[in-house]
Amino acid sequence: MKALVLKSVKAPLELEERPPLQPGPGEVVVRLRAAALNRRDYWITQGLYPGIEPPVILGSDGAGKVSQVGAGVGPSWEGRDVIINPGLGWGEMQAAQANDFQILGLPRDGTFATEVAVPASQLHPQPSHLSWQEAAALPLAGVTAYRALFSQGELKAGETVLITGIGGGVATFALQFAVAAGAKVWVTSSSLEKIQRAVQLGAQGGFDYTGESWAKECAKRAGAPELIIDSAGGPGYAALINLAAPGGRIVNYGATAGPPPKLDLFKVFWNQLRLQGSTMGSPADFAAMLDFVETHGIKPIIDDTFPLADGNRAIEQMKTSPQFGKYVLTVE
Ligand SMILES: NC(=O)c1ccc[n+]([C@@H]2O[C@H](COP(=O)([O-])OP(=O)(O)OC[C@H]3O[C@@H](n4cnc5c(N)ncnc54)[C@H](OP(=O)(O)O)[C@@H]3O)[C@@H](O)[C@H]2O)c1
Repeated sequence: MKALVLKSVKAPLELEERPPLQPGPGEVVVRLRAAALNRRDYWITQGLYPGIEPPVILGSDGAGKVSQVGAGVGPSWEGRDVIINPGLGWGEMQAAQANDFQILGLPRDGTFATEVAVPASQLHPQPSHLSWQEAAALPLAGVTAYRALFSQGELKAGETVLITGIGGGVATFALQFAVAAGAKVWVTSSSLEKIQRAVQLGAQGGFDYTGESWAKECAKRAGAPELIIDSAGGPGYAALINLAAPGGRIVNYGATAGPPPKLDLFKVFWNQLRLQGSTMGSPADFAAMLDFVETHGIKPIIDDTFPLADGNRAIEQMKTSPQFGKYVLTVE
């Protein structure tokens, strides 16, 4: 098999020929047809992620056909078109993952390869309305958006939701899901073009977060959002605390801009705000996300596709985040 291997940080991934995979007990081997990138893969290549142990095959998202089943796995998966839940060992609680929770693609070898071995319990049938590339784009970002919006954010139809940094892979799913759920969705972005794309997907409008007065304009046009979905944190977080409706929820699944330099706890308690963290999702979240995507016929937004061998080009592009939606690797 071929694989893009991280040999050391701050260096390009290396395309390697390796022996074919054998499934262990309870595992399957999936012959991949597409894999998708997440910001996690970029952070790892830059050495900005805990527990990096090269050599490792990166990649959390993949879609393909089951080519081999290991001992103890029923024959029903053999030859099936599948997508893979990348959250390994979530555990029993819905509220949070277990201590030994892992994400496919570090430390366990991931999907930037022609084959991947995973526990059969991670498999789901590929949604029939999605291509290989669309299916590969869905798992990590889709489940993160779903849990942030619904399981943690408790979004209800008719509510106003603000989603920050709409070009992001998770953020575009959050936009599609919230629109499908009947929410009034507003977005922020550093790019007017991306705001226009969001409006085409059903957003009411958006604001350029790099400008001085975006929050004032947001309060005037959008009112006070009952739910804010944020992955930036940083200095911009203070504006979110000011904007949230009394009794509102602010859900963070990331902190791309670092921790907020200050937090106005007076506003937090006076306005009865709920600041909620969210990470990926439980097996139940994943199954509910797939059900939601199939019910609403949602298709992931793919910004660009690259052959597996060109994976470094996709990672390089993530440096400046020009994308709207996901980068996908095609696997021949
Ligand atoms: N906890 C979890 O389970 C989980 C899961 C997935 C991702 N994450 C984290 O969430 C973040 C986004 O992940 P992703 O995969 O969606 O990344 P991505 O696709 O690479 O998203 C990048 C986007 O972030 C936005 N952004 C950057 N700086 C910003 C700022 N200061 N304010 C507002 N938006 C900003 C930009 O949006 P515009 O281009 O529109 O300006 C950019 O396009 C990352 O930090 C990632 O590590 C966490």
